[in-house]
Amino acid sequence: MNMKKVFLLTLAVVMIVSLFAGCGQQTNTGDVETLTMATNAAFPPYEFYENETIVGIDAEIAGKIAEKLGMKLEIIDTEFGSIVAGVQTGKYDMGMAGMTVTEERKASVDFTSSYATGIQSIIVTEDSVIATLDDLAGKKIGVQQDTTGHIYAADEFGDEMVIPFNKGADAVAALKTGKVDCVIIDNEPAKSFVQANQGLKILDSDYAVEDYAICIAKENTELLEKVNKALEELIADGSVKAIVDKYISAE
Ligand code: ARG
Repeated sequence: MNMKKVFLLTLAVVMIVSLFAGCGQQTNTGDVETLTMATNAAFPPYEFYENETIVGIDAEIAGKIAEKLGMKLEIIDTEFGSIVAGVQTGKYDMGMAGMTVTEERKASVDFTSSYATGIQSIIVTEDSVIATLDDLAGKKIGVQQDTTGHIYAADEFGDEMVIPFNKGADAVAALKTGKVDCVIIDNEPAKSFVQANQGLKILDSDYAVEDYAICIAKENTELLEKVNKALEELIADGSVKAIVDKYISAE
């Protein structure tokens, strides 16, 4: 092999190697990692549609978390009851849906610190004979499928008294047409459903007080730590409160 051939061969090898190196570099710096969040966007003011976009308290907090993590947030709307299993099996990175921390869910997924409180409320028609929790015995109770409201109502009043709906708004529609006698749902969505419909009220009695948190797969401890740190910073610097105030006072 003469010097010229050696030179050309070396040049070709260098070019090919740098071509591949270049590609590698581009995937490292060009692509931002995606953070997928499963939710059920029928739960105002935590998550709901504004035109085609999912907005709300959870969507905004998650956006800020993703920003802190240098990731791109992707929100996936699914049935509430499929979120925990989807997170557990790694289909979604996290679940954020005004989701109450419960012992049962904790057996399947881990939770971050809590960022909000929920209270189970009872919605009735303005002329209802139901005045307190005790009056619910023997009444038809509408709930959103697989929520804590569903679980409590079934435990306390019997499965046969409970009618689950895909969305809280569908349970409220059934209340208006008399298909159910009341709806048990979290207080903030309850307020927004009552505001959006005429002839409904929320009973004074607080039913159950709960903590909302983000769920993450048990084996994904690295992400849990990162998300938790970001969330705690956002709570400490007042960002979470500002987001909550924006949606809850603007209602
Ligand atoms: N807090 C209740 C629960 O965890 C209801 C949450 C419903 N959330 C929703 N996005 N639909 O069961």
